[in-house]
Amino acid sequence: MIDVVVLQPRSLSTTTPAPAGALPELQARKARGAFFTPAAIADFLAWWAVGGDPSAKVLDPTCGEAVFLLAAARQLRQSGADPGNLDQQVFGVDVHERSLDEAMRLLEAEGLDAHLIPDDFFNLATPAQLGCPLPELDAVVGNPPFVRYQEHIGDVRKRSASAALAQGVRLSGLASSWAALLVHACGFLKPDGRLAMVLPGELLTVHYAEPVRRWLRRRFAAVHLVLFERLQFADALEKVVLVVAQGSGGCDAFSLYHVDDASDLRDLRPFDHFNVTPADEGKWTDLLLPIRQRQLFKRVAAHGFASLDEYGAPELGTVTGANGYFAMSESTRQEHRLQPDQLARISPPGTKHLRGLSFTAKDWSSVRDADLPVWMLYPRVDDCSYELGRYLQVGRRLGVPDAYKCRIRDPWWRPPLVSPPDLFFTYMSHRYPRLIANSARVSFVNSMHGVRLRRETTAIAKSALPLLALNSVTMLGAELYGRSYGGGVLKMEPREAARLPVPDPRTLSAAWRLIKGERARLDRQLRERTWTAVVARVDEVLLRGVLGLTRDEAADMSEAAHTLRQRRLGRESAGD
Ligand SMILES: C[S@@+](CC[C@H](N)C(=O)[O-])C[C@H]1O[C@@H](n2cnc3c(N)ncnc32)[C@H](O)[C@@H]1O
Repeated sequence: MIDVVVLQPRSLSTTTPAPAGALPELQARKARGAFFTPAAIADFLAWWAVGGDPSAKVLDPTCGEAVFLLAAARQLRQSGADPGNLDQQVFGVDVHERSLDEAMRLLEAEGLDAHLIPDDFFNLATPAQLGCPLPELDAVVGNPPFVRYQEHIGDVRKRSASAALAQGVRLSGLASSWAALLVHACGFLKPDGRLAMVLPGELLTVHYAEPVRRWLRRRFAAVHLVLFERLQFADALEKVVLVVAQGSGGCDAFSLYHVDDASDLRDLRPFDHFNVTPADEGKWTDLLLPIRQRQLFKRVAAHGFASLDEYGAPELGTVTGANGYFAMSESTRQEHRLQPDQLARISPPGTKHLRGLSFTAKDWSSVRDADLPVWMLYPRVDDCSYELGRYLQVGRRLGVPDAYKCRIRDPWWRPPLVSPPDLFFTYMSHRYPRLIANSARVSFVNSMHGVRLRRETTAIAKSALPLLALNSVTMLGAELYGRSYGGGVLKMEPREAARLPVPDPRTLSAAWRLIKGERARLDRQLRERTWTAVVARVDEVLLRGVLGLTRDEAADMSEAAHTLRQRRLGRESAGD
């Protein structure tokens, strides 16, 4: 299956639905990431790129059917350029010759012209190399193809990666096609040249785009980002960001614009700046928030919060290699007559059963009685019992010893048990990650993380953190530092979980004093899944009562967390 993400909203794209029978054509189009830009966006970017200079030379490195070339050529003509000379000023490249035929037809229909090159853009040498077919350019415009790494493979990937490397950007194997294209295209720019492109919103938010973010900061003297805000266009437009940059030598700050939709772009002329300083490292997801919320988060997180790591480093659960075999229910245990001392007690794989603030011995018994897998095979190395021998036979018949993790350990049937942590950390979630006190003192498998509290940590942490981490600032931190996966799942690897902002020990103690009397009631609410009421109460005590945020400020934090969660979930309801 071809896995390509369409950047444009269906409502705004010039791509019309395919008639029946046009499927192969549509698939080929998707494979090259051929979705064309709405004219309003192309016009705006071309306006910026040409900058009123009648002699400007402009390139669209993947020009498709010339939306940008037309817009640029019109701008040039309007600025006083000679229409007969436009093939010396407007350049387009595309792998798809039929698109170029259509591009030329459209240009000629308006009495315009361009120099079109039918080629893979990565085959074009830059002016710094031998054999460059283009002059040095004043502007690069366009909307690069967005082909995800699973499809962006083989020779094409190799050539694109080395083209990016030639510009000093080392991309990982997870990079989608647009990243290398953007970087290679800028190799054609004059030092004071301009970049005006439609890029996927993941430029700001994904890990593999980190080298591109750093490069933007050091390559250009000024970078402007335009983000679309309007909810009704969100399905698609929220997935793009316009990057408008110029000059060279690096910049400390970006200017950032939030507009409702493409029709508002007109009002951005001229750019009226307000600057943001994006993080040196890591994601720029926070740029998706209004500046007020962003700054408030920084302030609150710096005073009153600490990273989870200060309490204890998040760690991985036991990797069995075959949870279906090693984790077993009470009925399976009885059927195979295995004894409790041949097994370890675990929290069952998955996190659905972890609804409350703690996982108690009573909870363990009730999931055992519900026949969830609460045991993990963990016999002594010298166990020669008949029962174990028979269970191992079952495993052999199922091919368990061939699983990678089993093959590399000796004996294959004894997983490297991780001892019971103080807290569980649910690292894959739709809402946000949670901490759960491991009161049952059971072990766990790798469907969640564990946190072992440091010895010097305050004694209340085990009870207080699970409740007080249910606040809007922590939730916002999870959105900012976690990764968004398909289906809207938020995932935090141990390294990311370690950065999660949770109340610092002083704030924790003060808030715990105020709220601990309500713990049982709030725990019940959580188990009944009315979690928004719990978060509201924790915000009131922690953010307002202890940290002194105003009502509006607390509401801002809650709204910011909500906005990013909704965005991650693709605007599906994230309510109770
Ligand atoms: C997202 S479309 C954008 C087209 C046009 N710039 C626009 O905005 O309407 C991407 C275009 O890139 C072309 N393309 C994909 N890979 C390419 C490559 N390696 N070199 C040149 N063109 C490529 C596709 O044929 C497609 O026309």
